[in-house]
Amino acid sequence: SSKPAVVAATITAEPYEAELIPGKKTVVWAYNRSIPGPLIEAFEGDTVEIRFVNKLTQASTVHWHGMPVPADQDGNPQDAVPAGGERLYRFTLPVGSAGTYWYHPHPHGDTSEQVYRGLAGLFIVRAKNDVLAHLPEQHLVISDLRLASDASIPDNNMNDWMNGREGQFALVNGQREPVITVGEAQRWRIWNACSARYLRLAILGRKIILAGSDGGLLERAQEVSELLLAPGERAEWIVAGPAGAVSLMALAYDRSKMGKVAPEQDIRLASIQFSQDSAAKLPERLRTLPPRIKPVAKKRVVFSEIMSMEGGQHSMQFLVNGKSYDMQRVDLTSRLGDTELWEIVNDSHMDHPFHIHGTQFEVLDTTLKGKTTPAPWRAQKDTFNLKPYQSARILITQKHLGLRMYHCHILEHEGQGMMGQVLVK
Ligand code: C2O
Ligand code: CU
Ligand code: CU
Repeated sequence: SSKPAVVAATITAEPYEAELIPGKKTVVWAYNRSIPGPLIEAFEGDTVEIRFVNKLTQASTVHWHGMPVPADQDGNPQDAVPAGGERLYRFTLPVGSAGTYWYHPHPHGDTSEQVYRGLAGLFIVRAKNDVLAHLPEQHLVISDLRLASDASIPDNNMNDWMNGREGQFALVNGQREPVITVGEAQRWRIWNACSARYLRLAILGRKIILAGSDGGLLERAQEVSELLLAPGERAEWIVAGPAGAVSLMALAYDRSKMGKVAPEQDIRLASIQFSQDSAAKLPERLRTLPPRIKPVAKKRVVFSEIMSMEGGQHSMQFLVNGKSYDMQRVDLTSRLGDTELWEIVNDSHMDHPFHIHGTQFEVLDTTLKGKTTPAPWRAQKDTFNLKPYQSARILITQKHLGLRMYHCHILEHEGQGMMGQVLVK
């Protein structure tokens, strides 16, 4: 369709029994009894109306990760839908918003649990003049699962709260090591929907053709040998090549976890079967991003950790600008439509992915140990990883009034207060 339309759906969050291990029952929480939840697709210009029904025993919200929706429709922690309640989310997708998004709960303190029990779904916004529209698509949602021996999903332990929760299985579309078949060249969309697992993606023996980031296509496709997707990040790839079978890997990535942890290992996520020789014929230019705007204001956001001893127990605090999240507190204010230069600083010894609601940003450069590196290409991002003591400069423009959260996308860190909020006036 090419006329603006209303895309309507109902998503119901509810607990139910699934058979993840043959013969055993696992209680999962999911949208419409499916993991991942239903894919919602819309075109730029469409109006989206989602009825959310909360059949959980906890309050919840639906947050449209990365999408430029009004603040009061974005599932803020302040707008929780009580257990047993429901509400309508309604927004119109502006031109330029085509991209690979997802939705997940955002009730303060319970986001980690609601996501690791299965609540997350996919959202794709398409452009009407999409230069890659002719390519068949595959969607790879990578998520994490931990099951106890009785097949139940265990609560977070101390290590999970420190380092972020990782499961024992990294799943692709809910499956372990599936076989993915590629005939003609394909467009892949890949989501890192894990709470904390980093994915250093590689196709063994082949190159990756990167065509898009969180917020849609790059200006030009880029050939890379690997791609790090931190929790919350997405990418678009063009997948083509000679016939044969290869492995899609998540290579070991050291994100400087705390405490005694097992060494990182390579994980085989899937096997890719190229059933024929294929080639990616791509236009020289995938997209033209608007020129960079000179910023009119500056802000600084610092992630830090404090280790403290309480009653003989080590405990960590995860902070933004020295403070733990407070739903009632406005940490920063921005003016609607102003382009701002934000410096994001990771003043800690472990990786943290920075994420902000309501808009995409562009990373200009990163600085590590006094060395500044310009971004390798222009890209629209809403989540960006910072290595220990690394900083990044981003250009950002908020296009809706209201309150927006920014936080570490390791959901356990976010839940413990590594989050702030900016009021757009
Ligand atoms: Cu993906 Cu504030 O979240
Ligand atoms: Cu978000
Ligand atoms: Cu973090």
